[in-house]
Amino acid sequence: MTPPTEKHDTTDTDLKPAFVYATTRDWVGYFQAIDGREPRETLVEAIKRFDAEAVEATRFAVDLGCGEGRDSAALLRAGWKVHAIDGHPDGIRRLISRGDLDDPSRLTMQLAPFESVELPACDLLNASFSLPFCRPECFETMWTRIVDAIRPDGRFCGQLFGDRDSWAKIPDRSHQTREQVERLLEPFDVEQMKEDEREGEDSHGTAKHWHVFHIVAKKKQDAKVGG
Ligand SMILES: C[S@@+](CC[C@H](N)C(=O)[O-])C[C@H]1O[C@@H](n2cnc3c(N)ncnc32)[C@H](O)[C@@H]1O
Repeated sequence: MTPPTEKHDTTDTDLKPAFVYATTRDWVGYFQAIDGREPRETLVEAIKRFDAEAVEATRFAVDLGCGEGRDSAALLRAGWKVHAIDGHPDGIRRLISRGDLDDPSRLTMQLAPFESVELPACDLLNASFSLPFCRPECFETMWTRIVDAIRPDGRFCGQLFGDRDSWAKIPDRSHQTREQVERLLEPFDVEQMKEDEREGEDSHGTAKHWHVFHIVAKKKQDAKVGG
């Protein structure tokens, strides 16, 4: 698990919107630290589940908070069309510069903050280690947009961070209790939810307590649209 080096000063009371932090936090250091990593296990599991279902058309995924593109590249290799979104220009630059992009004509990219991005309808919404960086007051609205964007029988995969994670005390982060996660997942049949809680390190070796939910979930046919 390799989220970013934490350089946020928790004593900073002059808080700025999360999308500002998305461009000022040390994401470049993070992108460098995770260079060459394999796709996230939640994405691999979701692709496997789609592959087990018959389909005629090319499937379409949104990779929300794509970073340097480890998951977008894997989706392209698996034959998907991908719309990759990130708030940091270096993430987008690194994605398009990757040497392992299979048929980049199936890839579109967008530099945009979670807080206001419009999400296209999709078969899969992948959000690997990115949603905790949405500004908390915007999280519920963003989650509603995520649920609405996923077609019935489509999937969400990715991570939500728990309330006991070290970073939960940072004011511009979105963390959830297990009960809150279960409520967010009500429009879905949960296919996998691994709650991981342990002492560990961030991508640059700084000690932290991890509390992470790893999720693969299939949207119900009768899920309510509009949250
Ligand atoms: C921990 S990284 C995860 C990157 C990639 N999905 C992965 O699994 O390695 C979080 C990503 O979210 C992006 N991000 C953080 N806050 C954001 C925001 N408010 N709007 C858009 N992107 C944001 C960062 O630029 C970064 O690429």
